[in-house]
Amino acid sequence: GAPVRVDVSRLEEGSILGPIPAWRGRPIFVVKRSQEALDALPTITDQLQDPDSTQPEQPEYAQNAYRSREPDVLVLIGLCPHLFCSPTPRLEIRPEPFEANWKGGFFCPCHGSKFDMAGRVYNNSPASRNMEVPPHYYESENILVIG
Ligand code: FES
Repeated sequence: GAPVRVDVSRLEEGSILGPIPAWRGRPIFVVKRSQEALDALPTITDQLQDPDSTQPEQPEYAQNAYRSREPDVLVLIGLCPHLFCSPTPRLEIRPEPFEANWKGGFFCPCHGSKFDMAGRVYNNSPASRNMEVPPHYYESENILVIG
């Protein structure tokens, strides 16, 4: 399919765009992360299966602490790597009824996999890989191109 353009200037902090029926028929999430959410990323690495996202399908420019080109804008394929259900965004830092150490992210309703605000999978989740980052780049300051 053709690349999809998203104007990220419309995105408010702590909000999500998507799922966008975008890249190769796969739904895309675009999340504008708050500073609080970014600050939480390094604090939970001991709870994650693959905190450094060592999987080969990770684009090179997403191999960083944020898994993105711009720290505040997260771009993910909105499918659970377990059996490809659609994870539910949980962008509040500590929503009930999740446990006290939940720092927000995505929750898969099918079998309970949990992901953080960078799509990294928690320990004790049925999924064994992080959510995938699709190819993406910025055409200009605010125009994100996925694909
Ligand atoms: Fe998401 Fe099984 S499909 S946990």
